[in-house]
Formats: sequence, C-alpha cells, structure tokens
Amino acid sequence: MNDELSEQLKIETHWQEEEYYQPPASFVAQANLLDGSIYERFCLENFPEYYKEFGQMLDWEKPWDVLFDSSNPPFWRWFVGGRLNAAYNCIDRHLAENKNKTALYFVPEPEDERIEAVTYQDLFVRVNEVAALLRDHFGLKKGDRVTIHMPMVIDLPVTMLACARLGVIHSMVYGGFSAQACADRMVDADSSVLVTMDGYWRDGKWLDQKEKADQAVEAADKEGHRVNKVLVWQRYPAQYKSASQIVEGRDVIVNDLLRQYRGSQVAPESMLGEDTLFLMYTSGSTGKPKAAQHSIGGYLSYVTAMSKYILDIQPKDVYWCMADIGWITGHSFIVYGPLSLGASSVVYEGSPTCPDAGRPWRISERLGVNILHTSPTAIRSLRKLGPDEPAKYNYNYKLMVTVGEPIEPEVWRWYYNTVGNGQAAVVDTYWQTENGGFLCSTVPALKPMKPGSTGPGVPGIHPVIYDDEGKEVPAGSGRGGNLCIKNPWPGIMLGIWGDPDRYVNTYYARVCKNPNSKDWRDWPYFTGDGAMLAKDGYFRVLGRIDDVINVAGHRLGTKEIESAALKVMQVAEAAVIAAHDDIKGVIPEVYVVLQPGVTPSKEVKTVVVDAIVKEIGPIARPREVWIVPDLPKTRSGKIMRRVLASISNRSDLGDLTSLANSEVVENIRKMVQD
Ligand code: WTA
Repeated sequence: MNDELSEQLKIETHWQEEEYYQPPASFVAQANLLDGSIYERFCLENFPEYYKEFGQMLDWEKPWDVLFDSSNPPFWRWFVGGRLNAAYNCIDRHLAENKNKTALYFVPEPEDERIEAVTYQDLFVRVNEVAALLRDHFGLKKGDRVTIHMPMVIDLPVTMLACARLGVIHSMVYGGFSAQACADRMVDADSSVLVTMDGYWRDGKWLDQKEKADQAVEAADKEGHRVNKVLVWQRYPAQYKSASQIVEGRDVIVNDLLRQYRGSQVAPESMLGEDTLFLMYTSGSTGKPKAAQHSIGGYLSYVTAMSKYILDIQPKDVYWCMADIGWITGHSFIVYGPLSLGASSVVYEGSPTCPDAGRPWRISERLGVNILHTSPTAIRSLRKLGPDEPAKYNYNYKLMVTVGEPIEPEVWRWYYNTVGNGQAAVVDTYWQTENGGFLCSTVPALKPMKPGSTGPGVPGIHPVIYDDEGKEVPAGSGRGGNLCIKNPWPGIMLGIWGDPDRYVNTYYARVCKNPNSKDWRDWPYFTGDGAMLAKDGYFRVLGRIDDVINVAGHRLGTKEIESAALKVMQVAEAAVIAAHDDIKGVIPEVYVVLQPGVTPSKEVKTVVVDAIVKEIGPIARPREVWIVPDLPKTRSGKIMRRVLASISNRSDLGDLTSLANSEVVENIRKMVQD
C-alpha cells in the first residue's frame, strides 16, 4: 500500500461504525426491486449468465450470439453479434405508449425564463432532424467521432442522441473545460467536427462558449490536427450571442441550418452490441487524459438496469440528476438511463445555488421531482448556504442519490433528515467513468443505509479488497487495501481509446493472477481506490491511491495540473496536492520551485493560477500557490506529495526518514502554517 493511503487509513480507522437507517416503508411499497433472491441469482457461480436479464431490458433488432466473449482478456465483449440502436432504445421504443410524456425538462438558470418540457415525440423529431443534418450536410457516418463541448441545455442530449442514431461516436468534453483541454481531446479522439454553443448562463453570468471553440481549433491546429467544422447552437434561437466571429466555411449555426431538415427522419443505424457508443475522458496518474470507450449493448443495458434497480426509476417518475452531462454521471443518469426507462429527466443549466440555496427545492417543487441525484460537494454547499431552505418548499423525494466522493456521515444525515425529510431512501453509489454504472451501492428496498459507506457490491458485482501482495483482506479486519472487482460486467469500458496497453496496465496488470490466462477469474479489475470492508459486507471508500485528485467529485490528474504549472517559464518544478476543504471536499494546492534567478512574487503566483485555469479549466483553480526553495524528495528523486499534503492540511507529517532533503520540510511548514 502506498504511503498516502496508509496515512489516510490511520485517520479513517478512528471512525466509528455508523448505525443503520431502514428504508422508509412508503419507498419499499413501490420499489422496482423487492425480491432479495437477486443476490443469490447474481452469485459468482452464475456469472456471466445472470447478465442476460440486463440485456433483456433493451429492445434488440437481432438477439446476441454470444453473451460474454472473454477470448481476449481483459478486452471483454458483451452481447456480441446482437444488433440494436441506443437512440431507438431511448426514444422510439417509448412512442407507442408514451409519446406525449415529458422526456426532458429544461430549466434555464435565469429564474424568469420559462421551463421547457420536451415530450418523447418532440425528442424524436429533434433528434431525427439533427441526425439528418449531421449525415447529409456533414457526411458523418458510423464510427466517426464528434466532439461536443456544450453547456447544460436540451440541444446537448439531442446532439448526443443524434450521433447515437447514426452510430457516430460522441466525445463530450465538459463545457467548463478550457479550450486547450478541448483541443487535446479532439486530437486524441481524432475528431474533425466540434459542436458548441454561443454561450450560456452560470452563476448569474453569461459565459461565452464559442470563443473557446476558436481557441480550441487553433490549439489543435498547432498539434497538427485539423478541425474542419464547428457547429454552433444558439442558446436563444435566431440570436447569436457570442463575441467571436463566425468563420466562413468552417462555422455553421445549427439552428439556421436545421430549417432545411424540418421533418426529416433517419432510420436508426443497425449497430452491434459491442460497437462504440461514446468516449469519455478521465484523468489518470500519468497525466495525459485518457478516453474510456463505452459500448452500446453492454453500457446501455447496464445503465438501464442500474437506473431501474438502484435509482428505482419508473416511467412515471420525474428524476433530476444535478451532475453535468460532461461527466459520466450525467451521460449515464441524465441521458441514457432515465430515457431508456421512459422517465422524465431534468436538465438544469446552472449552479444549484443560483440565485440562492433554495433553488433546487423550488425546481423540485415546481416539476414534482421525486428522485434527486447529486454529490457530496453540492450537498455540503447547500447545507452551508441554506441549512433551513428545504423546509420552505413542498416537494417529495422517494429516493436520493449521492455519488462522486465519500460523504461524511454528518453531511449524509443532513441530506437524509433535512433534504429528504426522513421520507426518502438514500443510495451512496460508488463507481467510475470506466465502469459505465455502479459498482457498489445498497439496493434501496433490500438493504439498510449506513452513512459514509457505499454498501455492498450491486447485484452481479463481486468486489474484493486485496493487500499489496494480492492477498484478500477479510471483512471486518479494520484494514484497508486496494478495492478490486472479481468479475467483468457489461458496463465496463471496451478499452482506452487508442491505447490498449494503458488499459491493461492501469486496470489489470497490478492484480492479474496470470497474464497468459484466458480465464476471466485471473483478471480482477483494479479500481485504484483504497477501501475497507466491514463485517456486514459494506464497503467504505477511502479515496484514490494514485496521483489523482478528486475535486468536487471530479477526477483531476495531479500530473496534468503540474504540467500546466510547468508551462510557466519561471517555474522549475511543481507539485500538486489535495488540500481539504469544507465545501468542495478537496481543492488542489500547488507548490512550485522557481527557475534560478527568478524572484518570488505575487505576479508569478497569478501566472501559475492562470496557466492552470487556461490549460484545464476553472475547476482546477488552486486554492494557493506556494513558492518554495525546494520540494521534499525521496532519495530516488520522487517528489513526496504526501508530506506537502500534510503541511497544507496541518496533519501529522509522518515518517520523514525516507527523504533526501528533510531540512526543507520545516522551512515549508513555517511558510504555510505560520
Ligand atoms: C470516487 C464518478 C466514494 C472514487 C462516477 C472513484 C466515490 C472516483 C464515490 C471516480 C462514492 C465515486 N463514494 N468515492 N460513492 N463515487 N467516488 O470517474 O475515488 O469521475 O474512483 O466517476 O470517484 O470518479 P469518476
């Protein structure tokens, strides 16, 4: 186990065991999954057969030939030879019975703007028109990649589903990410089409998005990659609200062009179960972001099953996931899962605390939201800014979800008691971009909740904790270790786009029992998270064991932030650590050593902050930049980020004997703490 994790474990093991909370009877009475025998049916001995049930939740044009193909470990393939279309499953199949039901609600951030309700029939029309435009005007076809860099508006899921209808692979880059981040991802995905929007509202401010597209195209060009077309949606149709010029021949206003495609229909492309639906970038410890490549059949069946069993989504529900669609949570649980089940899903443009911390509860009251899905960081800030706000509104949740990072039991209790009024079941869903859907969570009607613990593996997932020798750490031992999954599952990514070695090395190599084996049992999945397993089979996730910082539920690579800092000429060395923060959970802090001859100044610090924001986006904005004479290093020259983290977080510095230059530590400590 690495130092950082063992440090963390020292703290974590002082935590007491929390008491159970039973799911409310009103919830149990209506739940989708009430039959506890699912755990027996989904036991390891029955793998992979039990996943047929998940596949059967979708409509297939042609049934699969092979449920699970493990001939090339660990490149698992599910539902091989089956034919289907994701957009068909999320839209067309609901039309016969539910075409006039709301598929998506759009809630603009400005509260005086009207909420828009898009029915399944409307969605069908819009997706078809956009698909026709993408196909006929831009010549896009099956297998092409389209990068989407958009804010939270209805045109975003419409664009994604139009791609899915054509079999075009969408690669969505979180709208708040910088032009450079967007460029890097376009280069990596080799996509020559970028879809953006003129601008949008966030925290009461109008933000220009199109100008980032111009910079992104330019930056990609510098990396030798040509982006031919930029499709620009208008936040307010028929008005163009960006300061950036429309580039003749390259940029197209989608809203204008769409007029030519009114009423067009496009037959859903017949796709294989194992074909690619989308790419989703995520941070890894080696810096360069990597794209998890998700399949159509495996991914869609998995998110559908998770939405049904864990989120308890039913067609009559109004479900609101507050995540951004630019992250995997939004992909899976704003777009694909709820739409596959025919529910109504809310797309909210803005910040949860705009104009005040009562906003989410007003939206819930207004739309009759009965399932809420959000993150510990949002819960913390709503609790801080408006602890009494929920009580002022009349809404009723049957279920509430938390995801993205461990939730403190105290925060959990506020969520349960104050937000949920003690009437809603809470699920703490643990998973990752790479997984497609949940790994651990309680099944809400079947297992009690335990604050701070995610729960056991969801049905079908068999988690295990290995120590660094690969030995299983038994339940209730009080010891932490590497959280791994014994079996493959349909939602697991197909691989890392364009980098098969990285896929194997990052997720399997460390715990593989035999690299030559063709048996899936020898290839457990390595999550990269530390966790503990209690006697009752509930997991408590301790956090990342690699160099990834989880800011407000979003993974950022320390290396990526450090390389942004290193782009500043005056900086010689940089180390980024996770500083604890009451609201965000964790915020990056940067330690830099300047080039010889450069005088430390406020200006240098500002340049470093700007560089990071420019390269990665405001989400990575460091809380502080410390200019230090030297960084603590091991004898082999490895930067000891753990020591810097302890200084920033004012915790015990731990063992410093492995340092080559322990004298710098006291210097830095004084600078930061005094
Ligand atoms: C962390 C987000 C504790 C974990 C879906 C994981 C969690 C990383 C939880 C993945 C949870 C996610 N409890 N920690 N319920 N959910 N994590 O790829 O460290 O953005 O590895 O996927 O978030 O982040 P990602």
